[in-house]
Amino acid sequence: MSDNSSYEKPSLAVLGLGHVGLPTALGFAEMGWEVIGADDDASKVAMIRSGHSPFYEPGLDEMLARVLAGGRLTLTQCVEEAVRAATILFVCVGTPQKDSGEADLSQVEAIARTIARNLNGYKLIVEKSTVPAITAQWIKKTVARFAKHADAPGGLHAEFDVASNPEFLQEGKAFENIFRPDRIVVGVESERARALLQRLYQSLDCPILFTNVSTAELTKHAANAFLSTKISFINMVADICDAVGADVGQVALGMGLDPRIGTEFLNAGIGFGGYCFPKDLRSFMHLAHEHKVDCQLLREVEKVNLQRAEVFLKKVRHAVWVLKGKKIGVLGLAFKGGTDDIRESPALRIVKLLLEEGARLQVHDPQAMEASRQEVPPQAGRLEYCSSAYEAAREAHALLILTEWQEYRKLDFSRLHALMEVPVIVDGRNLLDPEVARASGFEYIDMGRHTRAEQPVTTVESASS
Ligand code: UGA
Repeated sequence: MSDNSSYEKPSLAVLGLGHVGLPTALGFAEMGWEVIGADDDASKVAMIRSGHSPFYEPGLDEMLARVLAGGRLTLTQCVEEAVRAATILFVCVGTPQKDSGEADLSQVEAIARTIARNLNGYKLIVEKSTVPAITAQWIKKTVARFAKHADAPGGLHAEFDVASNPEFLQEGKAFENIFRPDRIVVGVESERARALLQRLYQSLDCPILFTNVSTAELTKHAANAFLSTKISFINMVADICDAVGADVGQVALGMGLDPRIGTEFLNAGIGFGGYCFPKDLRSFMHLAHEHKVDCQLLREVEKVNLQRAEVFLKKVRHAVWVLKGKKIGVLGLAFKGGTDDIRESPALRIVKLLLEEGARLQVHDPQAMEASRQEVPPQAGRLEYCSSAYEAAREAHALLILTEWQEYRKLDFSRLHALMEVPVIVDGRNLLDPEVARASGFEYIDMGRHTRAEQPVTTVESASS
C-alpha cells in the first residue's frame, strides 16, 4: 500500500527554498523528520548542498551544516521527484505582486500542476506561502483537473488533501519562531490531514489552532494587516508627540503594558517594509475590494506608511538645511535589522530620495550591501558603499540611521564625532540612547521621542524667573 500517512513516519517535501522554505525544511529536519528540499533553481540547490545559505539569516549557516551532517535533508532541483517521494508537501514558493495589488499566484499554480502530474499515492498539500483566502480551493481544483491527465502510475485516482498552515516567522528570527512559535494555525478539511499535521507539530509547546482552510488563510492576512496597523498607528502618534512635546517611546510603553494592547510592534520610525507587510496589506485590500468590503482603514495604514519617508526627510532638511552637495552618512539599508533583505526597504527608498535631492551619500549596512549595490549601483562622487559605519561617517554633515541594527548601538560615538564634519545624527529608528549620543557631543534628532536636552520648557522658565 502506497499510503504511509497514518502508520509509518510520513516523509516531507518542502517545495521552494526561499526565506520561508529553507528555514522550514531545516527546522523539520532538526526536529527529526526526513525532509526533501526542492527548488527548480539549480544554482540555489547547489549552493545549499555545499553548505552555503543563499541569504543571510542568523543561525542559518550553523543549522544548515548540522542538518546536512545529520543526513535528514535531501536536496533536489527536481520538484517532480520530491513530490513523488513525499507524503506531506509544503508549498513555499513565492507569491509576488501584480501592479493591481493582487497576488501573483502563477508559481503556486505551477506547483499544483506538478503535484497533479506526479500523484503516486496520498498527498497532503500544505500551503505555507502567504496566499489570498481562496487559494486552497484553486489548488484543489487544479490538482483534480490536471491529475486526470497524469501519466504517472496511480495518478488518475490518487487521493489528496489541501491544507493551509500559514507561516508566521520573521526574517532575522526564523529559528526562534520555528522552534518556539506562539501558535500554529492549521486549516484542514479532513481528519486525515488534521491527524498528519497534529503529529508533525505535537513536539512543539504551543497552542495548535485547527480551523477550516479559508479561516487559516485569512488569519495570516489579518495578523500581518493588524501588525502593520499597529506600526502606522504608533507612527501617527509619534508625529503628534513631536508636535506637542511628548515621548512616543513612553507613550508606547504606557499603552503597551495594557495586555489588551501589548508592547510589541510599537516602535515608531520610518515605517514598515520587506516582502511581507506592504505586499500582504495590498493583497488583503484587493481581496476586500473584490468582495465589496470597505477596507478604508487599511488604505490609511498604507498611506501613513508611505508618508514616513517624507516625515523623516523633513527632519533631515531641518537639521542640515540644504541637502544638495552635502556629504551624508547612511547607516542601514536592509528593510529591518538581522537580514540582508532589501525588498521594499524604507531605508533604500530614503536613499533614492536623498540622491534625487543631490546629496552625496556614504552608505553602510552589515549585511545588505551586496543586494543594495545591485539595486542602486555606486555612483562616483554621489553614492559610495563603505566598509564600516566609521567610513560612512567620514566628513559627513549628518549621519542617518535607517535600519535597526543592534550593532549600531555599540559604535564608538566619540570616534564618529571626531570623523564628522558636522556632528548631527538623525535616527529614523529611535535606535540610540539619546543620552549616549548627546554625551558624545552630537545634535541628536529622533522620531517623536522629544528627548531634546535643550527643550525642557519648564526648566528654562524657572531659571529665568
Ligand atoms: C512579518 C511578520 O512579522 C511575520 O509574522 C510574518 O510571518 C512575515 O511578515 C511574513 O508574512 O512572512 P517580517 O517581514 O520578517 O515578518 O518583518 P517584521 O519583523 O514583521 O518587520 C516588518 C517591518 O516593520 C520592518 O521594516 C520593521 O522595521 C518594521 N517595524 C517592525 C517597525 O517599523 N516597527 C515595529 O515596531 C516593528
